[in-house]
Amino acid sequence: LKQNQDAIIYKLNEESLAFFKLNLRSNEAKPAVKYLHSRDITNEDILFFEIGYLPKTKSLVEHLISKGYNISDIVDAGLGTYNEEHQKLYDIFVDRILFPIRNENKELIGFSGRIIETNSDRPKYLNTKETRVFSKRKIAYNFSEAIRAARIKKEIIVLEGYMDVISLHKNGIDNAIALMGTALSQYHVNLFKTIKGTVKMFLDGDEPGIKGNIEASQTLILNNQKVLIVNNPTNNDPDELIKQGRKSELEKMVVEALNPLQYIISKRWPKVDSKDFNSVEEFMKEICSFVLKCNNNILYETSVEELEKVTGLSKTAIISFYKKISLKQN
Ligand code: CTP
Ligand code: MN
Ligand code: MN
Ligand code: MN
Ligand code: MN
Repeated sequence: LKQNQDAIIYKLNEESLAFFKLNLRSNEAKPAVKYLHSRDITNEDILFFEIGYLPKTKSLVEHLISKGYNISDIVDAGLGTYNEEHQKLYDIFVDRILFPIRNENKELIGFSGRIIETNSDRPKYLNTKETRVFSKRKIAYNFSEAIRAARIKKEIIVLEGYMDVISLHKNGIDNAIALMGTALSQYHVNLFKTIKGTVKMFLDGDEPGIKGNIEASQTLILNNQKVLIVNNPTNNDPDELIKQGRKSELEKMVVEALNPLQYIISKRWPKVDSKDFNSVEEFMKEICSFVLKCNNNILYETSVEELEKVTGLSKTAIISFYKKISLKQN
C-alpha cells in the first residue's frame, strides 16, 4: 500500500514533467529559454537535465485534473494546495522554470522552480512541498547520473545548487551532486558510502558555504568517510566562477582540495589578530571544538602539531586548551 501511494506521486510528477517540457517549447516560453541561454544553459543541457517551464497562462493542476487525477493525490504529491474556503485547488508553480529532482533510483520525487525575472519580490526558488517522497534533507540532485563517474574517479563532488551541478557538468566535471542547500544529512552519508572514494565538499564561497563545508566534513569524519574540502578563495559559487572565465582556476582548486583541518585553519587564521588574545582564543575555540566533535585521534594529534606551527603556542598550552574546552563541552 505504501509503495502504491509512492507510485501515484511518481506518476503525477512524470505527468507534470511532460507538461513542463512541452510548455518550454511554446511561444510563451521564449523569455524562459532566453534566460536559460543567458546562463549558458544550452538546448542540449535542457534535454539532459529535463528542464521545463510553466507560463503564467497555464495551470498544472487544471491539466492534471483534465487527465483524470484526484485532487487529494495532487495535494499529496505537493503539486497543488487545496483551499477549503473556496473549495478550489491552486497551483504552486506559477511562471517558473522547472528543474526535476530525482532520487538515487531515478524516481521523480519533486521539482524546484526558479523565477526568470530579476529584482522580483517573489522567492527566487520554490520547491515541491514536503511529501511522502520529497524532503529537503533527502535531496542529492544528479546523484543517479553522477554515481557512474564518481565510482570511476573514486570521488564525488558536493555542491550547493543545481545551477552549479549543471555548470560543472557542461564543463566536463560529471561526478558532482547538489545538496540544494548547505546541510549534509545521514541520508547523504549513506549514499556516498556506495562510491567507496573521497567526498569533496565544494559549497558556495560565502560564509554559509564555509560553515556548511565545515559541518559536513565533521559529519563525514564521524562516519569514517574520507573527505576533502575545496578551498575557494572567492565569495562566489562554482557556477559564478565558470561564468567569470575561471574554469582552470576552479579545476586547480578541486585537484588541490585540502583536508578539513587545513581548510578550517586557512579560512580562519588570516582573520585573526595575533596580538589580540581574545582573537586568538576565538580561533582556538573554533578549531579545537571542531576537532573534538570529530572524535578522531589522528586528527587530534595532527591538530596539536598544526596549531603549534600556526599560532606559535606551545604544545602544552594547546593541550591544556583542549582540556579546558572538553570539560566545558561535557
Ligand atoms: N535553495 C532552495 N530554496 C531557496 C533558496 C535556495 O531550494 N529559497 C536551494 C537551491 O537548490 C539552490 C541552492 O539552495 O540551488 C543554493 O542556493 P543559492 O546559492 O542561493 O542559489 P544558486 O544555486 O546560486 O542559484 P542561482 O545561481 O540561480 O542564483
Ligand atoms: Mn549559496
Ligand atoms: Mn549559489
Ligand atoms: Mn546565488
Ligand atoms: Mn549561483
